[in-house]
Amino acid sequence: MNTVAVIGAGYVGLTTATCLAHLGHTVTCADINETRVDELNNGQVPIHESRLPELLQDGLFQQTLKFVVGARQAVTNSEFVFLCLPTPQGDDGRADISAISQVIEEIREIIPAGSIIVNKSTTPVGTNAAIQSLIQRDDVAVVSNPEFLREGVAVTDFLQPDRIVIGATDPEAAQKVTSLYNGIDAPIITVDPASAETIKYATNSFLATKVSFVNALAAVCEAVGADIESVTRGLGSDQRIGSRFLQPGPGWGGSCFPKDMQALVRMADDAGYQFDLLRAVIEANEQQFVRIVSKAEQLTDDKLAGATITLLGLTFKAHTDDLRNSPAIEVANLLSAKGARLIAYDPMVDSEAALPEGIELAQNMEQALADSDIAVILTEWPEFARANWGALRDSMNAPRVLDARNALDRHAMLDLGFQYDDLGRT
Ligand SMILES: NC(=O)c1ccc[n+]([C@@H]2O[C@H](COP(=O)([O-])OP(=O)(O)OC[C@H]3O[C@@H](n4cnc5c(N)ncnc54)[C@H](O)[C@@H]3O)[C@@H](O)[C@H]2O)c1
Repeated sequence: MNTVAVIGAGYVGLTTATCLAHLGHTVTCADINETRVDELNNGQVPIHESRLPELLQDGLFQQTLKFVVGARQAVTNSEFVFLCLPTPQGDDGRADISAISQVIEEIREIIPAGSIIVNKSTTPVGTNAAIQSLIQRDDVAVVSNPEFLREGVAVTDFLQPDRIVIGATDPEAAQKVTSLYNGIDAPIITVDPASAETIKYATNSFLATKVSFVNALAAVCEAVGADIESVTRGLGSDQRIGSRFLQPGPGWGGSCFPKDMQALVRMADDAGYQFDLLRAVIEANEQQFVRIVSKAEQLTDDKLAGATITLLGLTFKAHTDDLRNSPAIEVANLLSAKGARLIAYDPMVDSEAALPEGIELAQNMEQALADSDIAVILTEWPEFARANWGALRDSMNAPRVLDARNALDRHAMLDLGFQYDDLGRT
């Protein structure tokens, strides 16, 4: 078992820290957010992530996990230093890796000889080499180990991943990082750092492309009279394609896809390749937000101005509290620009502070739908599908639902007397 420092206690860092402690390592996790560090040391998880509270309590109780403020405090005795730092989109579309450079500068002189820096942040090709030259230490190795977890099921994804990717130039360092994952049954893919860094961008870009493809296909289904669910059932049964990520929706978003798509386009540009395919996917996604608004316009006979619109769901997908780059917010902004009054309900959002100006927050579906002219389902929270729409209908000003997640039973909604629209279903 090893001593591990994890820098960054966000979705990736907190999951990495708690899961590595669960695997038997002694972990110190650092963040610059003092409140977050205090909360975590008291056993409170600041994000909504299934299984994290139990693993956190366990690690604290076993004293294999603790939280400190600042990277320097975490690395003094560590054999491994995991970087789980934000890499947001910079002004020019490239990934901003300044948080990583800053942390390397902080720990450069105090990181123990023989230790290994493991980069879990999503970073452009060349970052591994850049860390190696920034650290200016021959006795410290740098390994790329991109993370593929999905928010909402992060712990399960970490402990039961489809694969673990290790990118290293030093085979011994690669072997040591691999051994940290003993106890996890998954293929280990050991490659050079540039390939590891590219695998992460390729994965997210491919998934986003798949979502945009199915969104376009849903539009085609509407135009030609086919049914998207029947089509994707046939399409997804082809093992070369697979059925996951074939559900139409309001567009892809979240803290990763948008920035990673842009970063891959820029990375390719910088290397002399015009990735026009990805540019088209990014454009198609923007158009999907517009398409949802057009559908709302159609359903309300072009009377969005002054209408009260209920937004059901704000997070970028169900089972997370993450609002970053949520398609729901993109659609909300476009609806707001049409002059509509917006009232929203999301089971994971309890404060208007994190929302754009002009969105009122309701405490439940009933409150959100009272006097509504149209409800737009933007996140696939199960409670929206389970709701008693017959009862909810009566409190609405007009019984209209635009189901941008294909979450409800289309025929049941029509039978209840709703004006109902969705994506590509007949
Ligand atoms: N969120 C995901 O689903 C996901 C999945 C796979 C990969 N990634 C990648 O992992 C990386 C981290 O993503 P995240 O979602 O965990 O980010 P996050 O914003 O949730 O967490 C980052 C944490 O780092 C802390 N931090 C910032 N600067 C610091 C510093 N100098 N020292 C110590 N802590 C510092 C922040 O306070 C924050 O708590 C990104 O590169 C992201 O692209 C994210």
